[in-house]
Amino acid sequence: MSDAVLSQFTQTVHEEEKKSDKRFKVGIIGTGWIAESHVESYLDMDDVDIVAMADLIPGKAEKFAERYGVKNVRFYPSHKEMLDNEELDAVSVCTYNMTHAECTIYALNKGVNVLLEKPMCVTTEEAVEIIRAERKSGKILSIGFQPRLDENMKMVKKIVQSGELGEIYYIQTGGGRRRGVPNSTFIEKKTAGIGAMGDIGCYSLDMVLNAIGYPKPLTVTGYTSDFFGSNPLYNNPDDAKRFNVEDFAAAFVRLDGGIILDFRISWAMHLDTPGDTVILGKKGALRIPSTECWNGSIGGPMTIYHDVAGKQVETIVPECGNKGKGLFYKKVRSFLDAIRDGGSAPVPSNEILYNQAIIDYIIKSAECGHELKVEIPEI
Ligand SMILES: NC(=O)c1ccc[n+]([C@@H]2O[C@H](COP(=O)([O-])OP(=O)(O)OC[C@H]3O[C@@H](n4cnc5c(N)ncnc54)[C@H](O)[C@@H]3O)[C@@H](O)[C@H]2O)c1
Repeated sequence: MSDAVLSQFTQTVHEEEKKSDKRFKVGIIGTGWIAESHVESYLDMDDVDIVAMADLIPGKAEKFAERYGVKNVRFYPSHKEMLDNEELDAVSVCTYNMTHAECTIYALNKGVNVLLEKPMCVTTEEAVEIIRAERKSGKILSIGFQPRLDENMKMVKKIVQSGELGEIYYIQTGGGRRRGVPNSTFIEKKTAGIGAMGDIGCYSLDMVLNAIGYPKPLTVTGYTSDFFGSNPLYNNPDDAKRFNVEDFAAAFVRLDGGIILDFRISWAMHLDTPGDTVILGKKGALRIPSTECWNGSIGGPMTIYHDVAGKQVETIVPECGNKGKGLFYKKVRSFLDAIRDGGSAPVPSNEILYNQAIIDYIIKSAECGHELKVEIPEI
């Protein structure tokens, strides 16, 4: 019985890389940690030339290029100088969250395709401005949610979309760590803007919202705290002093279609996990063992709970392996393929707008202490 249920989700799809004569001239904006995975991926492709790099910190881009053996690159002190002086096909925006919007909008206005790291930005208004620039430019903008390319994450969507669970009415998601507050630019408003939600929470939201087709968020009641990041007992004293973002967040979100989203995310707490992800439908439910999801991994096999022939049945969905190159490579490749083939963005901005709005409204609701109606300006 389980096999019959499972077989509908497990047909093999063969993915082959297409070949073409098109070469891409690519620039990297921001040469910090995540830029490494972009550059490693581009270097692994025979149709890409990395021609320019920019970073606000003097000498950082130069050292970065040297470390990766990238030759014949021009260096710039910010995204503006780079985009004013280069003819590029595409840029990777790998800056911290607070400069995502300005770099992306500037690139799109120059007619350059953009692969923008997650989270899309910090506020709803910024997300709207980004989408306006994207639409005006007619260029591809894809947001860097690599878990979308993972077979386990695809399986979550396949199960929900198959109708096996029936109409979805409640979702609990989130995840996180007992102790795992990062440092660097992630912990200050002036660079990151948001904390655990921008780092890992946005992935949990994308996992479930993508599965159910990204309904619009209608209202949000949010809560945030910083009891660990700002406490020298749990964080390095220098980092604790500058820490001013959230290390924990929880929210109750009403989505279009009468769906309730119950969300929590943690960089640190006195608990190992705030729980598994569960998706409740009128015909069945799906349990996804607790995951941070950034690398697509799940905490064990998923379970479908449903009634079959009047009996309560549990179908275990075995974990899926991933074939071929890694998720970071696939993220970059799917972006370039969309440019080359005139396709649509692999991770479209109009979906991630709702992800960003939920995060933004959790912060706003936490600040004012009550539920808020989500207002998204006309695009
Ligand atoms: N997809 C993933 O798995 C993943 C993993 C880690 C980080 N990220 C995201 O990547 C982004 C960067 O994270 P990071 O850890 O690399 O940060 P980082 O602080 O190490 O690097 C960011 C760099 O951008 C530069 N920068 C900022 N504004 C700039 C501008 N206008 N022009 C040129 N350079 C500019 C900074 O000087 C810095 O060197 C964040 O948004 C983060 O959420 C994604």
